[in-house]
Amino acid sequence: MKRQRKKKFSIKKTLRLVIPLLFIILGIVLFINKDNLHTYYLTKTTGYDELTITTIKDNNLNTAILNKKYSKTLESIINSEYFNSEYLDEYLDIEYHDKDNFLSNIDALLTLGYTSNDINLIYNKLNDTSINIIINNTYLKDLSTIINLSYFKEDNLERYLKYINSNDFDSETAIIYVNIGLDNDYYSNVSSIEDPDDILVLVNKYHKLSADYIPSDLETINSKYQWYGRSNQLRKDARLAFEEMCEAATKDNIYIYAGSGYRSYATQLTLYNNYVKRDGFAAAETYSARASYSEHQTGLAMDIANKTDFISEGDKEYEWLINNSYKYGFILRYPKDKEKITGYMYEEWHYRYVGIDTAKAVYDSGLTYDEFVAKS
Ligand code: DAL
Ligand code: ZN
Repeated sequence: MKRQRKKKFSIKKTLRLVIPLLFIILGIVLFINKDNLHTYYLTKTTGYDELTITTIKDNNLNTAILNKKYSKTLESIINSEYFNSEYLDEYLDIEYHDKDNFLSNIDALLTLGYTSNDINLIYNKLNDTSINIIINNTYLKDLSTIINLSYFKEDNLERYLKYINSNDFDSETAIIYVNIGLDNDYYSNVSSIEDPDDILVLVNKYHKLSADYIPSDLETINSKYQWYGRSNQLRKDARLAFEEMCEAATKDNIYIYAGSGYRSYATQLTLYNNYVKRDGFAAAETYSARASYSEHQTGLAMDIANKTDFISEGDKEYEWLINNSYKYGFILRYPKDKEKITGYMYEEWHYRYVGIDTAKAVYDSGLTYDEFVAKS
């Protein structure tokens, strides 16, 4: 009998056929799904959600950006109407803030020309009102610089931008001038002085004393330093410092006298009105303070005279005072060429007591007291 050859089923043989086939099928499946797999891989490795990754891909943007770092800002803006692929790098660097209008605001700020660093500073330092002010203004190159100034005052932001845009001053000068108040006319936007007894009190055409303010420690200056029998007064510390200064000057053969010290509101009012009558309003405004606006009412200011008249440039007493007064706590309050800043003509004779430390600091700075205060 012919032995029927039984076809022997071979597992080995079968596997040899099936396994490569499975690999081929798997390869095909992987190939078809490669994009989904890549997206899945990126969600696991970058931290971005699937939507962000697909949007990046759909916009034909380089997914390498996703590997740089995770940015909630990018993830938030990419699927919003504010997304602009031009700013991809900036989005990565802008810290996310969970605040109203954050996306539309950063879109507006980027469009104006601000960098991610500017925007981070704006969001970290300023309130919503300020952010709106910036968005509603033109681009300011120095914005970050001015925000970082120690004397930047957020409440003044809108005035800063307006003043910078309408003047040729550099930004830092403009900030100082606005802090003084110079963006408004003299005697406008006036504030009432809260602590008139402060030795550092600033009195000028934007800061007024109340009509009834009278310092409580006024003292009459030693008669030997009074100008022709006058009876000028200063506040105690200023009186002591003034006499000390007169004494030191005497040792250098310089003779200086108290010409006009403390003046009450009423005295200043009469004086100012008389000047207006005599020289006219415009002229009087350049050299006389209106009542409530005079440093003389603080009991910290002195018009200094020599034997014949109030001190003027060229006098040896002037020279001595310029070089030495700060050592006793006095500063020249209305210097030459600073008329616009102080609001008064050059007064070679008007000195103000601020204490030795501040007087030295003002002297070293070369600034008027108005600028000095505006920078502090
Ligand atoms: N002459 C100064 C400015 C005053 O009147 O106080
Ligand atoms: Zn004076």
